[in-house]
Amino acid sequence: MGLTILLGAQWGDEGKGRVTDLLAEDADVTARFSGGDNAGHTVTVGTGAAARTFKLHLLPSGVIQSRTVNVLGNGMVINPARLRGELAALAQGGITLSPERLKISHAAHLITPAHVALDKAEEDARGADKLGTTGRGIGPAYTAKISRGGLRAELFKDPETLADKIEAHVARVNRTLTGLYGAAPLDPAAIASEYAEHAQALAPYITETSLYLDGRLKAGAHVIAEGAQGSLLDIDHGTYPYVTSSSPTTGGVLTGLGVGARYIDRVIGVTKVFQTRVGEGPFPTEAFGAEGDRLRGTGANPWDEFGTTTGRPRRCGWLDLVLLRYTIRINGLTELVLTKLDVLSGLDRVRLCTGYRDPAGRLHAELPYGPSDLAPFTADYEDLPGWSEDVGGARQSSDLPAAARAYIERISALTGVPVSLVSVGPERSQIIRL
Ligand code: GDP
Ligand code: IMO
Ligand code: MG
Repeated sequence: MGLTILLGAQWGDEGKGRVTDLLAEDADVTARFSGGDNAGHTVTVGTGAAARTFKLHLLPSGVIQSRTVNVLGNGMVINPARLRGELAALAQGGITLSPERLKISHAAHLITPAHVALDKAEEDARGADKLGTTGRGIGPAYTAKISRGGLRAELFKDPETLADKIEAHVARVNRTLTGLYGAAPLDPAAIASEYAEHAQALAPYITETSLYLDGRLKAGAHVIAEGAQGSLLDIDHGTYPYVTSSSPTTGGVLTGLGVGARYIDRVIGVTKVFQTRVGEGPFPTEAFGAEGDRLRGTGANPWDEFGTTTGRPRRCGWLDLVLLRYTIRINGLTELVLTKLDVLSGLDRVRLCTGYRDPAGRLHAELPYGPSDLAPFTADYEDLPGWSEDVGGARQSSDLPAAARAYIERISALTGVPVSLVSVGPERSQIIRL
C-alpha cells in the first residue's frame, strides 16, 4: 500500500486529525514526523450523547482506530510529561497503548521545563515583535538539536547518563535565563529526578523506528505520515519568521521518519474552505469585524476557531488560492481534502482569493517573492454565490446545493488538483467522498 503523506496546506488546524483518523481505518501504521505538543488535533467519534472528542497533541490521530501501530518519529520534539498525560487520558477513555502499538524513535529529541522556560523568556524579550508561539518549548528544543546540544529519547535507556545530561543542560539554561533574561533559575536535580521517572515509564517504547517503518513498508503495509502544524509554518518555506521551528512539509516526512521516497504513494493536502491563523504574521485575506467573527464562530461550538492547544481566538479570512497553489507546489500535493464546508452555509457570497495586487496595482497569480514578504500585497477576489442550506447531513456530492458544488469545483479548477474528500462536520461520518 505504501506511504500516504497527509499535510496541513495552510497555517495549521486544517482538520488533519479528523482526516488522519478517517484514513487510518485502512492503515496499519500512523506516524508523526515533526513538531511536538504545539500541535492540537481533534477527533470526534459518534453523535449526540454518545459523541466522544479526543484532543491529541503528541500521539498520531490514528491511535483511536484499534488496529494501528503508532510512531513518534525522529523529527519530533517530545515533552515526556505531556506524553504521559496524554497516554493516561486515553487510558481513562479505554485506549491503552502497549509497546506493540506505540513506538518512540530513539532519535527524537526531548523537551524539558528548561526549554519551556526559555520559550517564554525569549517571547517576552521580543516584546512587540513576539511570534505568538504556543509556549511549549518547541523553538528552544529544536535550537538545541541543531546546535548539537540536544537530549535524545535514547537517553531513557541509559538512566545514569540521562541524569548527568539533564543536570548539565538545566544548569546551562539557567545561566541564560538568569544572566540574559533576568528570569528565575530552575532546579537541575529536581528536573533530573523527574526525568528519571519519565525514563522508567517510557523506555519500553523506545524503538529504531526508521528500521521498523522500512520493514513494514517492505512488507506492503499502509503507513500514514500525519503532519502537524501547516506548510505555511515551515521553517524554510513558511511565512518566516512567523513560523514554527520544524519542517511540516513533504521534505520533513523523509527526514523526520527516516523512510525512503520510493514508498510515497499519495501526498494529501488538508485545507479548510476558508483561512485561519493563530499567532502573529501576515495574512492577506484576513477578514475583520463582523465578517471575521462570522467565520470564527462564537465559541459556542467545539469546532469554532479557538486554538485546540492554547484556547486563543484564531484569525479568520477567505481561502487564499495564491498560498494554496504555493503549498501544492512545495509539497507535490496529489490531492486536496477540504474541511468545514458546513461553516460557509448561510453566507450570501463566498470569496476565493485568486491573486495579489502589489502597491503599483499589478496583479500576481503566484507569490512574487515567497510567503515571508506578504505585507505589501492586497488580496484580489473572485466572488461566488453562497448557499443557505445546512450541509451537515450531506454524504454525497449530489446532496450538496449547486452553489456549494460549484465552489468546490472552482477550487479544484483554480489549483489544478483533484479534491478527494469534503468534510461537512467534525464527526467521522460527516464526510463526502468525491
Ligand atoms: P488539526 O490541528 O489540523 O488536526 O485541526 P484542529 O483539530 O486543531 O482544528 C480543527 C477543528 O475543526 C476541530 O475542532 C475539529 O473538530 C473541527 N472540524 C474538522 N472538520 C470539520 C468540519 O468539516 N466541520 C466543522 N464544523 N468542524 C470540523
Ligand atoms: P496543529 O498541528 C496552528 C503556530 C503558533 C505560532 C507559531 C510558532 O494543531 O495544526 P511554536 O510554538 O510552534 O514555536 O509557535 O506556530 N503553531 C500552530 N498554529 N496549529 C498548530 O498545530 C500550530 N503549531 C504551532 O501559533 O504562530
Ligand atoms: Mg490543531
